[in-house]
Amino acid sequence: MHNIAHNTLEKLESMRQEALLGGGSQKIDDQHRKGKLTARERIDLLLDEGSFEEFDQLKTGRARPETGTREFPGDGVITGHGTIDGREVFVFSQDFTIMGGSLGEAHSQKICKVMDHAVRVGAPIIGLNDSGGARIQEGVESLAAYGEIFSRNVMASGVVPQISCIMGPCAGGAVYSPAITDFTFMVDQSSYMFVTGPNVVKTVTHQEISAEDLGGAAVHNQKSGVAHFALPNDILCLREVRRLINYLPSNNRQRPPIINLRDPAERVDPALDYLVPANPNQTYDMKILITSILDGAEFMEIHPHFARNIICGFGRLGGQTIGLIANQPAVLAGVLDSLASVKAARFVRFCDAFNIPLVCLEDVPGFMPGPEQEHGGIIRHGAKLLYAFVEATVPRLTVIIRKGYGGAYVVMNSKHIGCDINFAWPTAEIAVLGPKGAAEIIYRKEINESPDPAQTLARKTDEYRQMHANPFLAAKQGFIDDVILPHETRHRLIRSLQFLEGKQVNQPPRKHGNIPL
Ligand code: HXC
Repeated sequence: MHNIAHNTLEKLESMRQEALLGGGSQKIDDQHRKGKLTARERIDLLLDEGSFEEFDQLKTGRARPETGTREFPGDGVITGHGTIDGREVFVFSQDFTIMGGSLGEAHSQKICKVMDHAVRVGAPIIGLNDSGGARIQEGVESLAAYGEIFSRNVMASGVVPQISCIMGPCAGGAVYSPAITDFTFMVDQSSYMFVTGPNVVKTVTHQEISAEDLGGAAVHNQKSGVAHFALPNDILCLREVRRLINYLPSNNRQRPPIINLRDPAERVDPALDYLVPANPNQTYDMKILITSILDGAEFMEIHPHFARNIICGFGRLGGQTIGLIANQPAVLAGVLDSLASVKAARFVRFCDAFNIPLVCLEDVPGFMPGPEQEHGGIIRHGAKLLYAFVEATVPRLTVIIRKGYGGAYVVMNSKHIGCDINFAWPTAEIAVLGPKGAAEIIYRKEINESPDPAQTLARKTDEYRQMHANPFLAAKQGFIDDVILPHETRHRLIRSLQFLEGKQVNQPPRKHGNIPL
């Protein structure tokens, strides 16, 4: 028995019931009709069953009779913490059924509270965004409220993983919170992100464009690179977030969880000895190699639809999470261009911030030539990838599979910029230029003066290939620690990761570096 007054309990219960109903059953039906789940249904799917502990369920915004707004318990966002496969995460989920999930003072205070907890205890923060943006009735206060969130996003960056799911509108300055977070998921056809919507676009540029074409999941996953994942619906989106969390540590002081997939470290794949075609101009799919070497063939690709000439993602080797960066010879011959450089640079920096070792699989013919790339700033963008690798202090491994040419060879985690262990397959070609380009330059006179220039070029190209296009010159210099057989790649990488576990790097003190943004 207890001595709490009956009417007090009744009042609490009715307040809770009101909060649980959000904007009411009509609005919930509208939400479902759009193919979207409610804010609470999303939290239930994201977290382990029964693990959610809510904060501020009863917190309301200030009623503003002059603008016709009333108090809603929860103020349009559900916040709290719970677990994903037993590990604590903090979450906020915007409730579109209450004033369109718009963000005002109280709504922002609730988000800031869970962000502050997340940083203090060292747990990831996951935001489920579904909002009409700044609450218009609250005016400049709602702008200030966004600023509070942005500041926390920046301070939490590199301290705890931050994940955004866009599951409805995300417009105006509101987009800058997800933009700062580490990974952004979008739901196809029901989410969009833009700084200015179709109406403003029409007024300013007289262009007619739909919300989907301006800022839908396809656009941001394929063209802008703003989002890292596109999923067909809310359920699959939340399942992918759970999968991602399993690769990550809870904060920058911890290591990622070790998960044993019962895949022996010594497992060899003889098929890899046949992966690289004999003809250097023929292509192959780098993903075959990736899934072959990783534990259980499990690979979570980041940005799978963007800058596909480079592959980034998480997998496990010997149970340990690794960040994998690989050139993809099947797309644009695996060349490094501006988009690929920026994609990989941000991924490398995430891994370094969160103690995730880097494994680089290299087959790169060079940087993409041409005025489009030069004028687009490939110098600046390529430098980002170089910078990101150099500053990374986590264990770093590289395997050169085939091509490693020119500046791209140096940038792709070479020994010269601090990689710990560099392997090469016997098929590796490490040189300043590809054989034909090199022969054209160094034997130009001889070729032009010969009776059959084409034949002389072919002969000189072949000579150059024999002499330079192999891993042996680099191995003689110690730039390659060992030339390994393809089928032993997995085992050699796992052994290297084991001995690098205690790696420590001392760096001179500084406020921060100045990455070429
Ligand atoms: C207050 C809002 C709101 C907002 C929507 N609502 N957005 N209330 N402030 N920003 C309310 C609507 O009045 C409506 O209330 C309910 O939410 C549902 O909205 P609908 O329009 O009926 O829904 P839908 O047709 O699905 O359209 C959704 C929408 C649209 C596309 C998001 O509502 C819209 O365009 N809203 C305004 C978006 C906007 O301009 N926001 C400011 C962006 S600038 P009732 O009572 O009828 O149910 C910004 C700056 C951030 O965010 C700055 C950071 C520094």
